[in-house]
Amino acid sequence: MYDNNPTLTGIKKEIDEAKQGQVFYDEKPIAEGNQPSNGKHFYIESYGCAMNFSDSEIVASILYEVGFRPTRQLEEADLILVNTCSIREKAEETVRQRLNVFAKMKRKRPGTLVGVLGCMAERLKSKFLEEEKLVDMVIGPDAYRDLPNLVAGAEEGERGVNVLLSREETYADISPMRLDSNGVAGFISIMRGCDNMCSFCVVPFTRGRERSRDCFSIVSEAKDLYDRGYREVTLLGQNVDSYKWQNPENEQVVNFAQLLEMVAQVHPNLRVRFSTSHPKDITDEVLHTIASYENICKYIHLPVQSGNSTVLERMNRTYDREWYMERVQAIYRIIPECAISSDIIAGFCGEQEHEHQETVSMVEWANYSMSYMFFYSERPGTLAARKYPDDVPHEVKKRRLQEIVDKQSEVSLRHNKADVGKTYKVLIEGDSKKSDQDFKGRNSQNKMIVFPKIDSLKPGDYAWVKVTEATSATLMGEVSFP
Ligand code: SAH
Ligand code: SF4
Ligand code: F3S
Repeated sequence: MYDNNPTLTGIKKEIDEAKQGQVFYDEKPIAEGNQPSNGKHFYIESYGCAMNFSDSEIVASILYEVGFRPTRQLEEADLILVNTCSIREKAEETVRQRLNVFAKMKRKRPGTLVGVLGCMAERLKSKFLEEEKLVDMVIGPDAYRDLPNLVAGAEEGERGVNVLLSREETYADISPMRLDSNGVAGFISIMRGCDNMCSFCVVPFTRGRERSRDCFSIVSEAKDLYDRGYREVTLLGQNVDSYKWQNPENEQVVNFAQLLEMVAQVHPNLRVRFSTSHPKDITDEVLHTIASYENICKYIHLPVQSGNSTVLERMNRTYDREWYMERVQAIYRIIPECAISSDIIAGFCGEQEHEHQETVSMVEWANYSMSYMFFYSERPGTLAARKYPDDVPHEVKKRRLQEIVDKQSEVSLRHNKADVGKTYKVLIEGDSKKSDQDFKGRNSQNKMIVFPKIDSLKPGDYAWVKVTEATSATLMGEVSFP
């Protein structure tokens, strides 16, 4: 789950570790317009955050419309795409390794085209074509509509780059081709870009300015998913609390709390999740909305990054320890059954031992159900790279990260043990990883519960499951009928 594990690089958040870089297809054709095939196949691999996975679904839809069909087999692909992440150095290294594999593929099957999409494409721009001789196309996150043109050019031997960022593009009119095959839970992108300038973070440079998507297109996407059997949607944005869309017809402004309510009203059996909340922006209005709808999940991912106010200031997070603690208290007060998770960076520039200890104590105090923990990785061009030396030695970063991980495991175990004996409404997602005799599903608090199958239940159904056992990562249970 963190960067010193060489097998799990470029890992982020809601995307299960196992999913990184894998390809998943919903075999169902996209709802509208069965475009004739051009006989060619594309293969797409995604890295990074949920937004990237969601973008890959938009890319797939754009390619489908011009006749390409998806394949899971790299060997079968005429067009190989890799949707990349730049958040930490390791994430970029992983992509470079994959590009070597694709280059081999290309040598075996000349004519195969390779395109680099996403954040690394945006960060490196045309440098990519210089550095990686076998890459044919480089396309940034706001330029995916141009992909068919670039592919056509590449088929004629041109190497193309489009990394223009936009202030308007939200792909609102594109119905994503669902690449995730579980058919139960889907992502909906509600905004793009980020206007915060956290000093460690490359995202504002790779994703551009923040913009919110038309709320009606979000609601209709949620309805469409519900009609196709999906029972959970996750609304995605780098900072969902600053969602703000103005209706051009009547100038009315829709904020995140109102959007949440609109999506919750699509159907009581459609669960609503969202990510990521920013501690400086999450309002009591949002918390009250969560509390008043059973189908809005009682789970908030509220990254703290550091538990120390001086470090937070250098990080330019624009809140301090006290502000963060007040927000956590507000969550537990307004939504008592809510679970909170976090992102944490160990060893940021200038971090002192006592400052690090405040991060450890925050994990305990906030009682996080889980956290994504990383050590600081300097990113070229960011505020921190320009302003602060990356002066915490690697060994110290690793040790501090391990202390945070150990504390989080202890807190997670306690959090999970407290669920033993309780009964939760679980949305069944499919077979558990270990056994086809067991189902896995999540409760509202986003905890995965594994339990023996019973005949009358299938993925997409809700079940009431009593928790019988807990580890720091998973709950085990059995179906109960209270
Ligand atoms: N928008 C989200 C986070 C997006 S990036 C938010 O504001 O919380 C996901 C996580 O990656 C961040 O929360 C942070 O913990 C981590 N991260 C970002 N830049 C990093 C860097 N340079 N080194 C290590 N971790 C980083
Ligand atoms: Fe990066 Fe901060 Fe924006 Fe999150 S809020 S994407 S950490 S700049
Ligand atoms: Fe990575 Fe870009 Fe997401 S840098 S974390 S893929 S926004």
